Amino acid sequence: MPNPSHRVRLGVNVDHVATLRQARGTRYPDPVFAAALAEQGGADQITIHLREDRRHIQERDLHILRQTVHVPLNLEMAATPAMVELATRHLPDTVTLVPEKREERTTEGGLDVVGQAGLLANVIAALRDKGLVVALFIDPDPAQVRRSAELGAQTVELHTGDYCGASSRLVQERHLTDLRNAALIGHDVGLRVAAGHGLDYRNVGAVARLPHMAELNIGHAIVAQALFVGFRRAVRSMIEAMHQPAELGD
Ligand code: PXP
Repeated sequence: MPNPSHRVRLGVNVDHVATLRQARGTRYPDPVFAAALAEQGGADQITIHLREDRRHIQERDLHILRQTVHVPLNLEMAATPAMVELATRHLPDTVTLVPEKREERTTEGGLDVVGQAGLLANVIAALRDKGLVVALFIDPDPAQVRRSAELGAQTVELHTGDYCGASSRLVQERHLTDLRNAALIGHDVGLRVAAGHGLDYRNVGAVARLPHMAELNIGHAIVAQALFVGFRRAVRSMIEAMHQPAELGD
């Protein structure tokens, strides 16, 4: 049974603040500023995904966040030599290895740890050699969980995308059972268990209550909610700015 006093850590993913910035090529909104506010709101971790196509987070963000974030910084990245070089230069606290396809809208599934064992073993060893904690983002599949432990990962982040996108209650329950089994096996083989992808205010509770769940990484739903809890105030501030008295020289 899960321990009710155990608090699941929240990693806040600020990628989509950068998505908005990149859409206009402006300096704002800055994910660095969002990370500071997330910390003030109680985030236990800041998560960013530096994608190979640099569609949202930039290397500059990683560089500054490394110097400004007080809680652990978790870098999601593809298992490529270029990304390993970046990670070992910037030294986030944790690296989460994720599959990456340029044409995908967002990460679409877990890593194939079983099929890519050789490549991943080398990448995990290179990162651990530099003192980084390594997590693998995988589907809640027993074989993937066991192989992750064998390859030397310390954490598995279970992909919750199928659970979140389920078309019916019944299908959702089935995905939740897969997540529960994967969490139990992960704990059994000595892994820390995390989860993420697609979690929102309605579906998060059941995942947070899974046995041995240590951490959830959530981005889209928080950034979307932040827009709406702040929208009224943002309009009011603009009206105030429009009607400020003229400054000398205007
Ligand atoms: N965890 C991983 C490994 C991810 O790739 C993502 C998306 O970047 C998240 C968590 C956060 O997903 P979401 O933005 O849907 O909350």
